[in-house]
Amino acid sequence: MIIAALKSNISSDNRSPIHIETINTLLNLDIEIWFEEGIGDGINVSDKVFADTGLKKHTRDECLENGDLIITNQALIRDEVNQVKSNSTILGMVNPFNNQELINLCSKSKINLVSMEFIPRITRAQKMDVLSSQANLAGYVAVIESAKHLSTALPMMMTAAGTLKPAKVFVIGVGVAGLQAIATAKRLGARVEAFDTRDVVEEQVNSLGAKFVKIDLGETGETDQGYAKELTEEQINKQKELQTKVCERSDIVITTAQLFGRPAPLLIDNKTIDLMKPGSVIFDMAVETGGNVEGSEVDKVIDRNGIKIIGISNLASKVSSHASLALSNNYNNWISDFYNKESATINFDFEDEIIQSSVLVFDGKITNERFK
Ligand code: NAI
Repeated sequence: MIIAALKSNISSDNRSPIHIETINTLLNLDIEIWFEEGIGDGINVSDKVFADTGLKKHTRDECLENGDLIITNQALIRDEVNQVKSNSTILGMVNPFNNQELINLCSKSKINLVSMEFIPRITRAQKMDVLSSQANLAGYVAVIESAKHLSTALPMMMTAAGTLKPAKVFVIGVGVAGLQAIATAKRLGARVEAFDTRDVVEEQVNSLGAKFVKIDLGETGETDQGYAKELTEEQINKQKELQTKVCERSDIVITTAQLFGRPAPLLIDNKTIDLMKPGSVIFDMAVETGGNVEGSEVDKVIDRNGIKIIGISNLASKVSSHASLALSNNYNNWISDFYNKESATINFDFEDEIIQSSVLVFDGKITNERFK
């Protein structure tokens, strides 16, 4: 069996699906590992360094045509899928909600497709959870990027030249990204407040030394996978109204609210933005899935009357080496759990909850109900 690791086909994605610090896990399985030339360009690892560990350098075409298990951080495009041989497996982040074409193509060409976005939220699978590993880093990056646009420092400083007040940060949405944003802002000395519709997170917010903003929206709740349920229009309006006061007093507002597989809820509109202080920053972490903030745009900083609205895609790629280390561990853990050394094949055991959820196409059939 040949594992072929691909470089990202999007130039702005600096991450690699393999990392020099985690490669031993795969090498220990005694599998032949190929990598696309230049795979480590975005993480400052040369082809020679990978080759010296025993990996084989190949062109992208060679990897696509010969890999039995192809690992990728980005979905393959049509022409690339056409190069992959049948009965091979593509494993990685394949953006399934926006890529029915890839799913259909894999089914037609009898290529197995494993979407790491569909790793179930069970304890055993946490080590494979790419959404969490990348969201965690994204939460960190959001604070750093926001701080760059602020004209004040984040921590309080008592100096001979005067007392500098700490910045106030408001985090909306306290999932994986939100928690890391809170922790990062706290470490940098900011005063942090946070809100989420899932009131179970109040304790987590408090344990990080931040203040949970209480907004009573009536029944909200979460799905069995821990995701937020969609609010009614009335609840969203109430939330917008009640969180406006917190936005007004904040220097940085970071929004992370997502709804799995659906567009993000719009939580900050122009009415709220116009009440905020000039010089404040709003960082919309949901910009790629529709946005939490009115007027936010992917990879742009919009200035609305002195308030900066920031939307940056693929935040984890800004800390590409750590993002690659985490991703490669996620992939390696999936492979280690399902690779059968004796038969040198992947054990697609559909009794297993992780296989059931993460495999979207197997043996020419679309196996996940959502995409049939
Ligand atoms: P996510 O990326 O789907 O959403 C981000 C946050 O936005 C969530 O906390 C969600 O409740 C919140 N949100 C949605 N609508 C909102 C609104 N109108 N206003 C304010 N906030 C809103 O969530 P993520 O980061 O994937 O985590 C969700 C939960 O799942 C967390 O509690 C996390 O700890 C848990 N989790 C559990 C895992 C496991 O394996 N057991 C793995 C990963 C996460």
